[in-house]
Amino acid sequence: MEARQASSNGRVLVVGSANLDIVGRAPRHPNPGETLIGTQYAEYAGGKGLNQAVAASRAGAPTSFIAALGDDTAGATLRSIAVDSGVDVAHLQTIAGTPTGRALIVVDDDGENTIIVIPGANARCEPSEVTEDSAVVLAQLEIPTPTVAEMFRRAKSKGARTVLNPAPAAALPPDVLRLCDIVIPNEHEVELLGGVDALHAGGVHTVIVTRGADGIEIFEPNRHVALPAFAVTAIDTTGAGDAFCGSLCAALAGGADIDESSRFAMATAAIATTRPGAVPSMPTRDEVIRFIQASAD
Ligand code: RIB
Repeated sequence: MEARQASSNGRVLVVGSANLDIVGRAPRHPNPGETLIGTQYAEYAGGKGLNQAVAASRAGAPTSFIAALGDDTAGATLRSIAVDSGVDVAHLQTIAGTPTGRALIVVDDDGENTIIVIPGANARCEPSEVTEDSAVVLAQLEIPTPTVAEMFRRAKSKGARTVLNPAPAAALPPDVLRLCDIVIPNEHEVELLGGVDALHAGGVHTVIVTRGADGIEIFEPNRHVALPAFAVTAIDTTGAGDAFCGSLCAALAGGADIDESSRFAMATAAIATTRPGAVPSMPTRDEVIRFIQASAD
């Protein structure tokens, strides 16, 4: 791997959610109406937006984060974790009288998760004026779609690249899809969005479908690349997709191409699955570089 792909100087702006993740581990997921005895409880910083911002920052990109937090203890905790991770929080919004978002997560013995998000302040996240220039603007769908659309409009007017991780999957109006340069769905989300061809027809240039342990596929007009995942023993897949998206954008902002950036991002995601929690699982750039070198030996 060339050093340049991870030594990013271009700024990444992440627009998205921040949640306190309330996590229970159990041997398996309960069926409807069933009660199981779990094995562990923990609280972690999470939310797809915050996870991706921390991933981008630890991957070496100057990173700004637009999100809405409640004026509660959870909001203060998430803000300080973002600061400790090197994320610029100047554009964070505080919504008085509204709780910070929560995610109720169950992780089973295979490391697979189910998640219910209670949006709280995330549902009130608004577009924000940003004076810094960003090379890449990255968003997901745990905040209002009009906010994402407006931030992408502003990004494109300034020449930034726009990247959408359509999670959780939601119908995207054509005028929003047209604003996306790169869309990164997982294998379920891409079906809900009508498939790769529909995304291309809607104006998206690059579609990267993530398939967990089965790797990724990159679809561009007249080009298709499949990349295998790095082999690891996963203990918690929560936030792995966010690790991929955030670190991919950091590498792109640093000047790497899509294939180089994707490989860096797959290594980042692989490491994240070997650690518990979302934000705490995001590796640094040096850790990713060492992992890629060790994988090549
Ligand atoms: O992608 C993982 C994230 O989804 C969790 O951190 C949780 O907060 C939900 O937003």
